[in-house]
Amino acid sequence: MKTEILDAKLGIEKGAELILRGELVVFPTETVYGLGADVFNESAVRKIFEAKGRPQDNPLIVHISSLEQVKEIAKDIPDSFYEVAVRFMPGPISIVLKKGDKVPYTVTAGGDTVAVRMPSNTIARELIARSKPLAAPSANKSKHISPTTAKHVYDDLNGEVELILDGGSCDVGIESTVLDLTTDTPTVLRPGAVTVEMLAEVLGAVEERGKVIKIAKSPGMKYTHYAPKVHTVVAKSVESALTEYNKSVAEGGNPVLVYRNIYAELSGKSIIDLGKTPEDYARNIYSALRSAEDKYDEIIIEELHGQGIEFSVMNRVYKSAGNKMV
Ligand code: TXA
Ligand code: MG
Repeated sequence: MKTEILDAKLGIEKGAELILRGELVVFPTETVYGLGADVFNESAVRKIFEAKGRPQDNPLIVHISSLEQVKEIAKDIPDSFYEVAVRFMPGPISIVLKKGDKVPYTVTAGGDTVAVRMPSNTIARELIARSKPLAAPSANKSKHISPTTAKHVYDDLNGEVELILDGGSCDVGIESTVLDLTTDTPTVLRPGAVTVEMLAEVLGAVEERGKVIKIAKSPGMKYTHYAPKVHTVVAKSVESALTEYNKSVAEGGNPVLVYRNIYAELSGKSIIDLGKTPEDYARNIYSALRSAEDKYDEIIIEELHGQGIEFSVMNRVYKSAGNKMV
């Protein structure tokens, strides 16, 4: 199969036609690029798992273009869904609800719950509005780093998908927050740009339910994720980063430091700069890891201790490194 890349605005109509024909289309969102199929077409959804090499037991998020569509996807929707939706949808959050009867079990990996997300990216919403709600994981090969540009997608999925809609770089840069509202306590399964603190503000107001927000495991979290192709570690301090760097060079290696803060001790070393703010950090991290794995043989990433989105990015960084610390 030849993979075509089109400017997203020009390619929407073709994208919608392909979706309605049961093909896969890659589309931009504000978080990362998605690999979409018509959620109601089971054979189309199966193609997603084949193209990515994704384990069958990892459920997909369903992307919708308007809040009304949630009723086609989920049932017994609690009031808390609308409380969160009013604040954060469209935006970088996916909410786990009871699965609607029309949604094939292939989408939910056999489960009775379904994750629903309304992206703020207008290309994504228009594609959905012109075709169907889209089952879509991140558009990378399973286990690899999520894509934040059309080029990242092409590098992973060339030949596996008919069309990539190129909408430029993703604004947020890490995947959506996954919030489970089917459990007694609303539970964050994956932290993201809608932070645990922001959700606690909304859901905490519902006092009689006595909600506590906590981070638990989503089905996908047991797999290796966001893994660069080269040895990757997290550095607890500048000193330990330097020791690791120098050791690697002494052994004939070609390491790189991936850093947000600037330290005089690191000048003259190979460095990828992650930008100034926590938001820059989220936006740049996956591009940094992808370019690092192409040019270097070891990646040393700065450990950061912030709250909010910085906490969410570190969640991905520890996974990239397989929790290896220096
Ligand atoms: O930002 C995003 O969410 C991106 C863009 C494309 O929207 N999508 C994305 O999809 O990151 P994916 O498949 O790479 O990650 C989906 C995560 C997995 O960890 C999966 O286990 C979890 O969401 N998930 C999906 N459905 C679920 C469900 N019914 N219950 C619990 N977790 C679920
Ligand atoms: Mg993914």
